Parts: sequence; structure tokens; C-alpha cells
Amino acid sequence: MKNHSMPAPMFFVFCLFFLLYHLKIATSTPRYIAVDHITLNCGSSAVNLKDMDERHWVGDMLSSKFALLPNHNSTISEAQNFSSVNAVPYQTALLSYSEFTCVFFPVTPGPKFVRLYFYSASYSGFDKSKDLFTVKAGLFTLLRNFSASILTDSLDKKNFFKEFCINVEENQTLKLTFIPFSSDYYAFINGIEIVSMPIDLYYSQKGFIKDERVPPYVAQAPQFYINYSIALEMVYRLNVGGSSIQPKEDTGMFREWLGDTTDYLLSDGAIPCDPSLKPKFSKIPNYTAPDAIYQSAISMGPNRTRNSLSNLTWGLPVDTGFNYLVRLHFCELEPAINATGTREFSIYIDSTLAEERADIILWTDSNDTPHYKDYVVMIQNKGEGSHVLSIDLHPVSDSVFLDAILNGVEVFKLSNPDGNLAARLNMVLPQPDQKTEPAAIKSKKKKTIFIAIGSGAGFLIVLILVCFMAVWKLRRTKHFSSCKGKIRLRRTKASSLPEELCHHFTLDEMKTATNNFHEELIIGVGGFGNVYKGAIDKGTKTVAIKRMNPESHQGVREFRTEIEMLSQLRHVHLVSLIGYCNDDNEMILVYDYMTNGTLRDHLYDTNNEPLTWKQRLKICIGAARGLHYLHTGAEHPIIHRDVKTTNILLDEKLVSKISDFGLSKMGLENTAVSTTVKGTWGYLDPDYAIRQQLTEKSDVYSFGVVMFEVLCARKVLNHNLEEEQQILASWARKCIERGTINQIIDPYLEGKISPECFKLYLEVAENCVCDKGIQRPTMNFVLEKLELALELQENVDAPKDNISRQSSTVSEESSTTSQHTYYSEVISLYVDTTTSAPGYYSA
Ligand SMILES: *[C@@H]1O[C@H](CO)[C@@H](O)[C@H](O)[C@H]1NC(C)=O
Ligand SMILES: *[C@@H]1O[C@H](CO)[C@@H](O)[C@H](O)[C@H]1NC(C)=O
Ligand SMILES: *[C@@H]1O[C@H](CO)[C@@H](O)[C@H](O)[C@H]1NC(C)=O
Ligand SMILES: *[C@@H]1O[C@H](CO)[C@@H](O)[C@H](O)[C@H]1NC(C)=O
Ligand SMILES: *[C@@H]1O[C@H](CO)[C@@H](O)[C@H](O)[C@H]1NC(C)=O
Ligand SMILES: *[C@@H]1O[C@H](CO)[C@@H](O)[C@H](O)[C@H]1NC(C)=O
Ligand SMILES: *[C@@H]1O[C@H](CO)[C@@H](O)[C@H](O)[C@H]1NC(C)=O
Ligand SMILES: *[C@@H]1O[C@H](CO)[C@@H](O)[C@H](O)[C@H]1NC(C)=O
Ligand SMILES: *[C@@H]1O[C@H](CO)[C@@H](O)[C@H](O)[C@H]1NC(C)=O
Repeated sequence: MKNHSMPAPMFFVFCLFFLLYHLKIATSTPRYIAVDHITLNCGSSAVNLKDMDERHWVGDMLSSKFALLPNHNSTISEAQNFSSVNAVPYQTALLSYSEFTCVFFPVTPGPKFVRLYFYSASYSGFDKSKDLFTVKAGLFTLLRNFSASILTDSLDKKNFFKEFCINVEENQTLKLTFIPFSSDYYAFINGIEIVSMPIDLYYSQKGFIKDERVPPYVAQAPQFYINYSIALEMVYRLNVGGSSIQPKEDTGMFREWLGDTTDYLLSDGAIPCDPSLKPKFSKIPNYTAPDAIYQSAISMGPNRTRNSLSNLTWGLPVDTGFNYLVRLHFCELEPAINATGTREFSIYIDSTLAEERADIILWTDSNDTPHYKDYVVMIQNKGEGSHVLSIDLHPVSDSVFLDAILNGVEVFKLSNPDGNLAARLNMVLPQPDQKTEPAAIKSKKKKTIFIAIGSGAGFLIVLILVCFMAVWKLRRTKHFSSCKGKIRLRRTKASSLPEELCHHFTLDEMKTATNNFHEELIIGVGGFGNVYKGAIDKGTKTVAIKRMNPESHQGVREFRTEIEMLSQLRHVHLVSLIGYCNDDNEMILVYDYMTNGTLRDHLYDTNNEPLTWKQRLKICIGAARGLHYLHTGAEHPIIHRDVKTTNILLDEKLVSKISDFGLSKMGLENTAVSTTVKGTWGYLDPDYAIRQQLTEKSDVYSFGVVMFEVLCARKVLNHNLEEEQQILASWARKCIERGTINQIIDPYLEGKISPECFKLYLEVAENCVCDKGIQRPTMNFVLEKLELALELQENVDAPKDNISRQSSTVSEESSTTSQHTYYSEVISLYVDTTTSAPGYYSA
């Protein structure tokens, strides 16, 4: 094991650095200190309540910076069901059937964030569905014919906020007027927050900003000044490739940055990230965005062929009839990209060329230096109320790396000349804080894209459009809102009921779908119960229905965990949960049907055709992507805990999907979770078994075992073999050491693996099954190496496909000398074999 991917000392230094770095963040003062920060907890008489983001909210009855006009006191009420929300400032509201105005003073002149917080519920004397109102700030109309209850009916949560940017002139107060639609309707508000912002943050008032920073008006004019006669509404603020950033982690303005932007990513991408990166703010002010924005990104990945034929595309639904400010954040993370012309790409905003050759190094002079580019784009009203604003990045053909990269996106709607920000039609559009529907778009679309990639780019665009239209239509119908997508994990935790998260099927529906659980439809059997092939939606959609054994106590928890995890996670490489049923104490889960069953079914003890080496590599890459997403895609890492070949399912295109989240645990960053040891014998991380400290590295270990299983096509535990050979992971390591690994690989693969690819694959697999978690690579590293391995294989295969020309599959270098300890005894001491629940098929 000479070639450790990350030697232990280096890793240690890295950890230390990471820790110190975070300590520093926690203790340092914010980069921007807002002159005004008013937080008004409407309807409350509490002096000072703290919210999750450590903001202190002052009850409006006590605030000295606020007055309510006219001064009536019949308008204050507590939300009756507020317990389901993170309380402050949603517990109480100010409500009225007649117009009222909130006046703030004194407010220093200058641009401000104005955030309005709403919680849709019934308040005493106010029926939930009877809210319909307009909100004005001076001459600006912020919301018109707005109904929080209509908006939240399509969401899986009842609370949300809207953020606006408004300038306050000298000697002016800031007034917000709430006007009910008619005397039958009421207006309400739960909380108002006002925060000053730097004058050059989003506004480009003449004289206050360098000319080169004034955004171009895409396809219209060279420049578009966003002066103080314009109000802005934030519609998207995304940490591309990273996780959510809470308001308290912002640079002092309490902006929320949403993570997991794969919700809006319409093409396949890689996630370069460097959590240790310390951005050098030499080109833009350091309050522009938190460091985390620049520490992660999405790029296209290493496949040059594919990149040259495709775009890295985001689709963001917006209202039509407005100008939008689109801000793209960039930071070059790749150390190898340190010269201009290395990674150049074109930027299209709404399908119009906005930047012909974007070159981050040219803009910043060096990597690790953040920059942003603003564009203003007109989205014409063509009769349709909504439109998908696209951002396309496409590599320039003569660039060294055929790739593109994006670190963050912000999109603001700009007010019209009449000061209006409200959509003409009373449309309920997905807003940034309500990411459910785009998630659904994505999960449908991503699949399509995978199919389309092989068939050329022009076709891809057509498919995207067709698919978009179809999904758009669908999502208006009740059915499609069934499985609510992404919820921020922090806010839902365990207290949320499954009902809120996922479609509920009745037992009758389940019986119809499975012909009353007919034996002939059983496609899998296990200790947990049976898996049936079923049909829902009047027989038009085939699904897999897992009916868990009601006797099992274990089952109850796993059932819940699975629903909670899967309804929050969406990824091409995770199996999709469609819904569940728990009528009459039944525990039934409904998934997308995976035509090709489990990965193991294609490896050994099977009648299936053997998979080719390339297919196996692709399956491993897909599974690695799925795991990488679990480990990094959500706010806290999710540890699967039961990675094995029966939990990797294959769809009709042999695209792999991770399944079975019954044992999954949410970890905390950089800390190990202490748990009772669970998992499957043979795949179980010895480090975890001994110390009972669970980290993502336990999944990495299991994945390493899967890699050996894929290579050798044998059981990971086989008691019929000689003792030395029983446990695949340790046997494979021994063979690598002795230089005899080529004798135990699947005979079908002999002579078909390129030596470079083989060497890399072995190296990665061997590193994954290192004894100590700290020695193992991250899934991201594994993913990158596997992609490279595939490329190495393809380079060899390309000239004369299907002709095996490699006689020897092993290179001498792969035999190494290092002492591996034997740990089989340890495993058998700790493992509880009965707890291993296989995927929705049998083990
Ligand atoms: C941010 O930049 C300002 C001015 O450029 C500087 O004074 C301040 O120390 C910086 N803050 C941090 C946290 O780097
Ligand atoms: C508010 O209501 C209280 C009692 O309900 C009453 O005494 C008081 O005069 C009212 N205040 C105003 C300003 O109407
Ligand atoms: C409050 O919640 C309960 C159960 O969660 C529900 O039955 C009731 O209708 C809710 N009340 C209101 C006013 O929304
Ligand atoms: C508000 O909605 C009502 C009906 O819902 C409609 O009649 C009215 O014109 C709308 N007002 C505006 C300003 O859009
Ligand atoms: C604001 O008020 C101050 C004091 O009343 C006055 O001197 C100043 O001219 C006013 N400024 C503007 C822009 O009206
Ligand atoms: C602001 O910009 C608009 C056009 O974008 C222009 O009509 C207006 O005069 C400008 N106002 C100021 C105060 O510069
Ligand atoms: C690279 O892209 C080409 C063209 O889309 C495709 O045929 C090939 O399978 C891809 N290779 C990888 C490593 O995905
Ligand atoms: C740029 O990157 C290359 C390849 O990693 C390296 O050899 C070179 O020294 C780097 N140059 C600078 C100026 O950092
Ligand atoms: C990339 O997107 C732009 C703008 O939508 C489009 O014109 C171009 O054809 C796309 N290129 C590819 C290869 O998909």
C-alpha cells in the first residue's frame, strides 16, 4: 500500500486545518455589520425571543422602532397549530380584515433587505383559506392578490419568507402597507426583518459602482443600471454543489443560501469541492458571499466527448414580464487550472449568449479567488405566466480542459417601471424556499437526460423541452404533488410525520395494485417480508411494493427511517420512493420498479448474462455517485450503513440506484456517531465494529467490498472455502499483496481489462478497505478515480472494440508489501446478522 491516496499524517493535518478554520469562522466578527437590523415579531408581546439563527426578535408591541397605523388592537392572534413550525417568529401574527400599515423609524438611508415571514394557519377568528391581500412598500407593490394559504397548499410546509431589496431615501421612513382584497378577506404577517446592505452589493447606482461591474442587459444593451428606483425580489439563492447555508452563517446580512441545487440542475454534473479552501477576496468584497459558496461547485466531469456535445444546464422557473438580475459566482478550485485559457466556457442566459469566453483565471489572476458576474435579462410575457429561465454553460472547443464550472447562483426579479414586483397572473410558482416541485422536475428529467446523452445534443434539447412541458402539466394535477421532494433536513428531523412527506396509499389501492398480494407477483422474499411487482395509476405505472412483516419491531423503525430519508432525498442514483401505506398496521413501501433487479443478480448464482467490465465500472460509478450524494448532498451527511450488492438496484438501462435506507443514520460533520453496530457480515467496517463509532468511512469500506465482489464475482463470505479465503475483503488484500489477484477475478473478465484501469481499480478498492476509517478515501475521491478508470478502459477499447487484446490483466506494481492485520474474528464477535435488511429484493 505504497500509494495511499491520502496518507494518514496528511489527513490529520487536513482535519486540524479544517477544525481551526471552522473555529475561526465561529468566533470572528461578521464581514459586514449592518447599521440597521430590525426584527419584528408581529403579534407578540415578548421582549426578546431567539430563533434558530440566533436572531433576537422583538415583539411589535414593545418595539420602539415601529408603529402600527391605524392603531387598532383587534388584529393580534396566535397561530393555533404553530407547534409544527420552528416557532420564532411564526407563533404569532398580526391580522386584519382592513388595511393596516407598519411604519419603521428611524431607518438610516440606503438599500435594505426587507424580509416578510408568513405562517399559513387558522388563527382565532381568521379562517386559514380566507387570506388574500396586497403588500406595498411606499410606491412598490411587493405582493398582489397574494394568498399564503394557496401558496402553502402546494408545499409540504406552512412557513416561508419572501425577501426584497428596497432603498430608503434620506429622511424617509419605511412603510409596509397590507391591503386585504375585500372585506371578506384578511391580510396578515408573522414577522418582518429589515437589514441594511452594502450599497454596491446588488445595486449598481451610477457613481457608486465601477463601470465594469454594471451588468450587461443580455440581448438588449451593454449596460443596465440597477438604480434606487428599482426594487428587487430574491427568487433563487443557491450554493451550487454544496449544502444549505443558514442565515447566521452568512456574511452578516442573514441571507439564506439553499444547498443541493441538483434540484435545478438539468444535466449531469460532477461536484468539485475543497472544504479547506480559503478564498482570496482580492477582486470582490469579502461580504459578497460566505466562503462555503466558493468551496464547492458543479462542473461537467472528465468526459471530454460528452462535454463537447452538451451543456451544463440549470432551469429556474420564474414569472414572465420582468427583468431579472442573474448573478453567477465563480471560483477556480482545481489547482491544475492556474493559467488563462485552461478552462474556458460560454455562458448562455435564457438561451442567449451572455459571455463568449468565460475564463475565471483571466478574471481573477489566480485560483482560489472568487468572482461573480451579473447579467440582467428580460423575460418577455408571451401569454404564459411562467417560464423556465435557463443558465447554460458550454466549454469552448479550444480550451485545454473541456469543462465548465459554477459555484453559486442568485436570481432577483426587478420591479417594473410602475414599481410592481407582483406577477400579472395570480400564479403560484415555486419559490426558493419551497423547493419541492423543482425536485420533482429534476427526478423525472434527469432520467430522461441519461437516455438522451447517447443520442446527441440536439435531441437532448428537444427532450428537455418536451419533458419540461409534460412535467409542468403534471405537477398541476393533484397526483404529481404526491411525493414531496426536498425538505431541509434540519427543519424536519424526526418529529415530522411521514404523512407530510410522501404520498399515502390506501390498503385497497395496494391490494388492487398487487392483485391482493398475489404470490405470482412476488419478486423478492426476505426476513422483512415480500416484495411484489405491482401496477398503480390504473395499471399504467409499474412499481415495486415492499410489504414489511408487521410483527417486526425493528421493521417499524426501519419503515419510518426509510420514508423520512427517501422522501427528503432525490438523486438519479438513489431509488425513488413513490409512497407508502400504513393502514391497518401494514407497513408497505412503494418504489420505482427496477427492471434489472439487484447488482448481485448479475454477478453470480444467476442465469443473467455476465456484465461486461465497462458495464460493471459504470454501475460502480453510479453507486459511488449515489453514496457521495448521501454523504455530502444534505445538510448533514447521511450514512447508509448497509451498502452491498443486493442494495444496488439496476434499472432498464443498467443505471445503478442505491436502495434500502432502513438502517441509515444522519451524521454530524466530522464527528462520529456512536451506535450499536449494524450492517451485513462481510461488508461491515472493522473499525466501526470495534469502536462503534460510525462515520461515512464505514460506507466507503462496504463500497470497497462491493468493488471486489464486482471484480471477482463471488460471495463476500463463503464458509465453504478455505479459512483464508472465506472473507473476500481480506482474501483480496492478501492476493494483492502476493501479486496473485489476477487468479481470483471473474474468469469472464480475464483479458478484458486494460492494465492501467485494473491497477487504478485495485488501488481504489484496496484503499477503501483499509482497516482504519481515517486511511480510507472519501466517496468523492473514489468517484473521481472510478471515472478515470473508465476513461482509461475506454481509451484502450476505442480503436478496436470488443476485441480482447490484453493477455495479462495484472501489472507487477500492484503487488505491494505491507502488513495487513486479520480482523475476521473481530467481525464475528460484533455483528448481528439478523439485522441486515436487504434492499427491496431478497438477499
Ligand atoms: C473583509 O474586508 C475588509 C476590507 O477589505 C477587511 O477590513 C476585513 O478585515 C475583512 N474581513 C475578513 C473577515 O476577512
Ligand atoms: C384595546 O383594547 C382594550 C381592551 O380590549 C381597550 O381597553 C383599549 O382601549 C383598546 N385600545 C385601542 C387603542 O383601541
Ligand atoms: C390543528 O391540527 C389538528 C391536528 O394536527 C387538526 O385536526 C386541526 O384541524 C388543526 N386546526 C387548525 C385550526 O388548523
Ligand atoms: C385579484 O384577484 C381577483 C380575483 O381573484 C381579480 O378580480 C382582481 O382583478 C385581481 N386584482 C389584481 C390587481 O390583480
Ligand atoms: C433631511 O432632514 C434634515 C433635517 O431635518 C435636513 O437638513 C435635510 O435637508 C433633509 N434631507 C433631505 C434630502 O430632505
Ligand atoms: C434609474 O434607471 C431608470 C432606467 O433604468 C431611469 O429611467 C431613471 O431615470 C433612473 N433613475 C435615477 C434616479 O437615476
Ligand atoms: C463519454 O461520452 C460519450 C459520448 O456521450 C459516451 O459515449 C461515453 O460512454 C462517455 N464515457 C463516460 C466515461 O461516461
Ligand atoms: C500550474 O499547474 C501546473 C500543473 O499542476 C504546475 O506544474 C505549475 O507549477 C503551476 N503553476 C503555477 C504558477 O502555480
Ligand atoms: C447550449 O445551450 C445553448 C443555449 O440554450 C444552445 O444554443 C446550445 O445549442 C446548447 N449546446 C448544446 C451542445 O447543447
